[in-house]
Amino acid sequence: MKGIILAGGKGTRLYPSTISISKQLLSVYDKPMIYYPLSTLMLAGIRDILIISTEEALPQFQTLLEDGSWLGVKFTYACQNQPRGLADAFLVGESFLGTDSVCLILGDNIFYGNGLSQMLMCAAEENQGATIFGCYVSNPSDFGVVEYDTDGNVLSLEEKPQNPKSNYAVPGLYFYDNTVVGIAKQIQPSSRGELEITAVNNVYFAQNRLKVLPMRRGIAWLDTGTHRTMLKAANFVETIQSRQGLYISCIEEIAWHKGFITLEQLLERGKILKNSDYGAYLLRLGQIFKKQNGSERYEST
Ligand code: G1P
Repeated sequence: MKGIILAGGKGTRLYPSTISISKQLLSVYDKPMIYYPLSTLMLAGIRDILIISTEEALPQFQTLLEDGSWLGVKFTYACQNQPRGLADAFLVGESFLGTDSVCLILGDNIFYGNGLSQMLMCAAEENQGATIFGCYVSNPSDFGVVEYDTDGNVLSLEEKPQNPKSNYAVPGLYFYDNTVVGIAKQIQPSSRGELEITAVNNVYFAQNRLKVLPMRRGIAWLDTGTHRTMLKAANFVETIQSRQGLYISCIEEIAWHKGFITLEQLLERGKILKNSDYGAYLLRLGQIFKKQNGSERYEST
């Protein structure tokens, strides 16, 4: 399975902060926003990743992430100049995907919590149809909304409905088989002129090939669309990290645990970043791991 991170758009809701820099390069507490969705793909075991952004922002992403070899992954970069909708990612990424299945994640979605890794790995193993998630939220109108019957069967999917039929929002994390490319070519732009991901999901639903898994309460799905929600996400990350002394979305740590890089490579990286708390954390990781008595009790997230 390949991965796509969609990190385009103008980020106008964060102006003036995003006039000269891409939203997904802004910091959420102590690391660039894109580290969070990247860590989610890595936890799913995905190592071949396409980053889609605007022409102006792509060089900055390349400076940050390079070819990915330092992380044991491979990054490819592609340009989307007009925000034509989430489903456009499969048209931009068509040649990158080839015949592979794909996980699409939005560059501003943050996931953290108990059981997340297992949930992601299970979804990534499924190479048929589509797997998406339903997450209980207080403001469903802001999202794609899934309606279930009492047995948990999906009844409908709607994009940002004024009168939502449930409180279950669909987060920006989608697993699809390769037929998604053909589906993205078929769907028509919505009234806001975009190829909606909900339209793609509705095609899978009509074909009886859509799974919507509940994202349990123990998993936090955080939004970074506005300054206020970014600050809340940053406070969340700081609270967990300072309490535990263990980091959220530390991509080098995940790469090491997944066997993508060696401890030596992780420590090399720590030396480069050593003046920051993040770098110091990398340099401490070998000892932290020993103190936790090995991998059984230690889950990187
Ligand atoms: C998009 C999708 C929506 C989904 C949301 C998750 O919304 O269209 O279905 O629930 O991402 O973040 P947008 O980013 O366009 O507001």
